[in-house]
Amino acid sequence: MSPPPPLAAREHLREQRFSTIWKQDLHDIFVDVAPYYDRANFVASLGLFNWFRSSFMATLVVAPGQRVLDVCAGTNAVGIALLQREPGLEVHAMDRSAAMQEVGRQRAQALGLSIDSVIGDVHVIPFPDNYFDTVTLTYATRHLRVKEVFKEIHRVLKPGGCFCHGDMLRPANPVVEKLYYGYLRACLSFTGLLFRSGTAAMNAKKYFIDALEMFYSADELSEVLRETGFTDVSAKTLLAGMIGFHRAAKSR
Ligand SMILES: C[S@@+](CC[C@H](N)C(=O)[O-])C[C@H]1O[C@@H](n2cnc3c(N)ncnc32)[C@H](O)[C@@H]1O
Repeated sequence: MSPPPPLAAREHLREQRFSTIWKQDLHDIFVDVAPYYDRANFVASLGLFNWFRSSFMATLVVAPGQRVLDVCAGTNAVGIALLQREPGLEVHAMDRSAAMQEVGRQRAQALGLSIDSVIGDVHVIPFPDNYFDTVTLTYATRHLRVKEVFKEIHRVLKPGGCFCHGDMLRPANPVVEKLYYGYLRACLSFTGLLFRSGTAAMNAKKYFIDALEMFYSADELSEVLRETGFTDVSAKTLLAGMIGFHRAAKSR
């Protein structure tokens, strides 16, 4: 395990190393994973995923009538939790995977909730400038050109609006980092067998850990948020920095 490259070079190196996977393989992986995605998260996190979710949701402050966009929304877990808390919100979801969004649509419909869905690549968000009060992004940033996406999110937020981010992060402590990757390696093999993952998901095990190794610690991600124009950046971490939640504002 080598230390990650310096912050200034990180985005370029991430793209060099992973762009083929981001463009081609990820789509097949999420088609494979969509039917069991939520159950697999629960198992892989040893039942802690609901705690991760509720800790993230606790960072969101919303009011009736506000407009929220959840990007890389997957199966709509965030949008559903938001509408259950505040039915007066207008919630939009965006994801490149129609398969993940179809599971999300069915989940929302079963609960009598309505989430507007856009299928597309989050590097270009098809909404006007200054449009949303809140934008959320959870558990997908490792698969993205981070600075580009953060700039797009900044563009579509209203002045004074808030970006709430939650993800697995690279622990800053190398010992914790090593233990974490060891656990993930075992756990991805186990969930792959348990949920009978197809070839696409089974082949992605190495990528998931490599991408985390090249990702950001909580402090580094705060720095990237500031670099891309956000202010009032704050972060909270769980489990020694393995999971992190950031709030960042667009200045008025
Ligand atoms: C691990 S899932 C996270 C889903 C959801 N945010 C959650 O917290 O459960 C990652 C999602 O990001 C989506 N995704 C990955 N790259 C994307 C891109 N470039 N544009 C839009 N969605 C993307 C995938 O299709 C997948 O649904």
